[in-house]
Amino acid sequence: MVPFLRILGIETSCDETAAAVVERHAEGHSNVLSDVVLSQLDEHSAYGGVVPEIAARAHVEALDELIEEALKRANVSLNDVDAIAATSGPGLIGGLLVGLMTGKAIARAAGKPLYAINHLEGHALTARLTDGLSFPYLMLLVSGGHTQLILVRGVGQYERWGTTIDDALGEAFDKTAKLLGLPYPGGPAVERMAQAGNPDRFDFPRPLVGEARLDFSFSGLKTAVRQAAQDIAPLSDHDVADICASFQKAVSRTLKDRIGRGLQRFKTEFPTTGEKPALVVAGGVAANLELRGTLQVLCDKNGFRFVAPPLSLCTDNAVMIAWAGLERMATGAAPDALDVQPRSRWPLDSNAETLIGFGKRGAKA
Ligand code: KG4
Ligand code: ZN
Repeated sequence: MVPFLRILGIETSCDETAAAVVERHAEGHSNVLSDVVLSQLDEHSAYGGVVPEIAARAHVEALDELIEEALKRANVSLNDVDAIAATSGPGLIGGLLVGLMTGKAIARAAGKPLYAINHLEGHALTARLTDGLSFPYLMLLVSGGHTQLILVRGVGQYERWGTTIDDALGEAFDKTAKLLGLPYPGGPAVERMAQAGNPDRFDFPRPLVGEARLDFSFSGLKTAVRQAAQDIAPLSDHDVADICASFQKAVSRTLKDRIGRGLQRFKTEFPTTGEKPALVVAGGVAANLELRGTLQVLCDKNGFRFVAPPLSLCTDNAVMIAWAGLERMATGAAPDALDVQPRSRWPLDSNAETLIGFGKRGAKA
């Protein structure tokens, strides 16, 4: 048996260019040897959102050097890695092409196997790297592109229990911020303003709350915020703070209801898993302290462990892509052929139906 496997990961599906080297030892422990991320925030902030063409060009400009930097920081050469893992979807097609083609070229030139990784699988498996979780567990992915509740049964075995039928949660934060004149990305700005606001001043809607299905909907909330802002215009800082606080409260209540039902379903489907069941969060919205607090309390009440990996591994990064590759290798899965194609839409759960809107930003599925 090989003592350890070492892999180079590449991530370019949205607005972060990232490369990482990770190794996994046969007896179980893992090392992140390097983790390099270049955010394109400055390139996109003037437009209030990610511009696909700008993102793709920025990946082209940065990726080669970033990979060299990741190898250098890990103190290894390409000869010392066992495989290459590159995100091949879902995401913005231009960025995916840059990362996957680079991965293919390196795999070919260095004679290494290539693993084409689903970005969502990277998010889904991260908690096994950071917290050693065992299967099955529930994962809530809340980012600018996705809002999904996923049952993680095993490597390659995912069931989507809920998804947004319109906006992703991060997108709702970003749009709310924009219409209130706050900077992009909106999440941190809304959270900051909300701290000084009155969460009870506006009674914003909580769509789908009370329904048995585990899906989410945020576009009605955004519309209600717009209406409230128009009704009391011109807005003082005080008004903006109250709207942000009331918005966050509505989101918090929505998550409490939706995720609460998800936890109940998990307990029904897995009455005896041996260890305490776990809910994992991932995605940029997981940075929000109020929402984290809500999820923590919910988990405590329901006897769940609440697992929030460090923020740098919750947001887009290449460590999670490398890790997903290592997980696949550990199952003995064959690498991908070099003619593998990027996929802008690539649901983790191929049995899940596509819902209208499905919470995409750009082309993310
Ligand atoms: O995972 P991420 O970094 O990138 C992708 O979406 O791929 O997530 C970014 C999203 C943005 O919509 C941003 O507004 C949101 O996460 N976000 C937050 C907070 N920090 C970032 N939302 C709410 N509260 C925050 N503190
Ligand atoms: Zn992501």
